[in-house]
Amino acid sequence: MAIHTLENLLAEGVSGRGVLVRSDLNVPLDNSAGQQGAITDPGRIAASVPTLAALLNAGAKVVVAAHLGRPRGGPDPKLSLAPVAAALGERLGRHVQMAGSDRSPVVGADALARAEGLTDGDVLLLENVRFDPRETSKDDGERLALARQLAELVGPAGAFVSDGFGVVHRKQASVYDVATLLPHYAGTLVAEEIRVLEQLTSSTKRPYAVVLGGSKVSDKLGVIESLATKADSIVIGGGMCFTFLAAQGLSVGKSLLEEEMVQTCRRLLDDYHDVLRLPVDIVVGEKFAADATPRTVAADAIGDDAIGLDIGPGSVKRFATLLSNASTVFWNGPMGVFEFPAFAAGTRGVAEAIAAATGKGAFSVVGGGDSAAAVRALGIPEGDFSHISTGGGASLEYLEGKTLPGIEVLSQPQPGENKGAADS
Ligand code: 3PG
Repeated sequence: MAIHTLENLLAEGVSGRGVLVRSDLNVPLDNSAGQQGAITDPGRIAASVPTLAALLNAGAKVVVAAHLGRPRGGPDPKLSLAPVAAALGERLGRHVQMAGSDRSPVVGADALARAEGLTDGDVLLLENVRFDPRETSKDDGERLALARQLAELVGPAGAFVSDGFGVVHRKQASVYDVATLLPHYAGTLVAEEIRVLEQLTSSTKRPYAVVLGGSKVSDKLGVIESLATKADSIVIGGGMCFTFLAAQGLSVGKSLLEEEMVQTCRRLLDDYHDVLRLPVDIVVGEKFAADATPRTVAADAIGDDAIGLDIGPGSVKRFATLLSNASTVFWNGPMGVFEFPAFAAGTRGVAEAIAAATGKGAFSVVGGGDSAAAVRALGIPEGDFSHISTGGGASLEYLEGKTLPGIEVLSQPQPGENKGAADS
C-alpha cells in the first residue's frame, strides 16, 4: 500500500484540525559550564521546519512529539526540550509553547489542557517523550497506552504526521504505535529521505564507494556485510579502523579497540579483501584531548603509548583518489575526532573529496548523525552533497535492508479503513 504524505493531508484540509507530528529534534547540546544547553548543531531543527510550517500555515493545531538523548527511567532536566522549543520558535517565526510539569512531564493534564487550548496555527511542543518510560517500552500494551494519550491530544478528528526520520528504525510509542491509532502521513522530511535512499539502493550508478567511520565496528557490521557485495569499495576510517588494523596483526597502542570484534574483522578482511580499504597512516596523540600533540605515523608503526585520533594525509590522498572516480558515494561516520581541530584533517579531507566527486556529477549521501554534524562544524557547504540525511542509525538500517517499523507502519491501512470491508 502506498504511503500517504503530507500533501495528501493538506489536500484533505487541516484547518482547525489537531495534528500530532513526530519530529526528530535530537540535537547535540553543550551542557558544559556556562553553556546551559546551547545547541551545537541545529541541523535537525532546520530539517523539521518545512513540515511544521506547512501545517501551521494551513491552520492546523500542531502538537509536536520529540525526544532528546536517552534519559534513563524518567525526567532529566539536562535533557529537557526547552532550549529546542526556543530555537524552533525562532525558525518558525512563532511562539512554541511547551507542555509538561514535574508530575506529568509528557502527556498529563498540562499537555491535554494546552492541546485543547490551541487555536488554528498554534504549535505546542511536548516535553521529551522519552521522559515517559512507556515510549521505549518493549511491552506492546505499555507503548499503546502512551500512544492513546498522545492521540487524545489531537482529538477525534486528529491526524499523525511522521517526520522524524532519525527515529523511524525505532518501534516506539510516538513513532510506531500512534500511527496505528490515527490517520497517518509521511512528512516532507521522511518522504524525501525515503526517496533518496530508494534511489541510492535501486538505481546505484557504479563505481559505488562507501565511506564508514565512527567509533564502533559493531554498529557498522550489518551495513558492511550488506554493502560488501553491492559496493565497489568500502573505505574504513575513524575509531573503528583500529579493530581492523588489529585484525591484520598490527599493534594499535592505546587506540580504540573492540577486542571481541577482531575475529569478525579478520573474516571480513578475508571475505572482502578486494572491497575493504584501510588507512595506511594514522595521526596519533599521546592522550585523548584537544591539546594532544598530533604525530603522523604509518599504520603499522603505532607506538604502544599512542592513541590514534585521525587518519593520516597519505590515507586521505588514497581515499580521495578512489572517491574521485566514484559515481555514487554513501558516507557514514567521521574519520577521526573532528571536534579536536588538530585531528579534523582526515574527516575534512574525505568530506572535501566527496564534495568534489559530487561536483563532477556523483550522487552523494551523507548518512546522518556525526558525519552531518562534521560537515556543518567544518564549514563545508551542505549544498556540496546530493543529500545529507538526518538519520544515522535509520539510514544504516535502511541500507542493511532491514524493515524500519516507523516506515512500515505508514504503509498500513488507515485506522478504520478496513472496517467497512470487515462489516459487510
Ligand atoms: C539519532 O540520534 O540517531 C536519533 O535521534 C535516534 O536516537 P536514538 O538512537 O537514541 O534512538
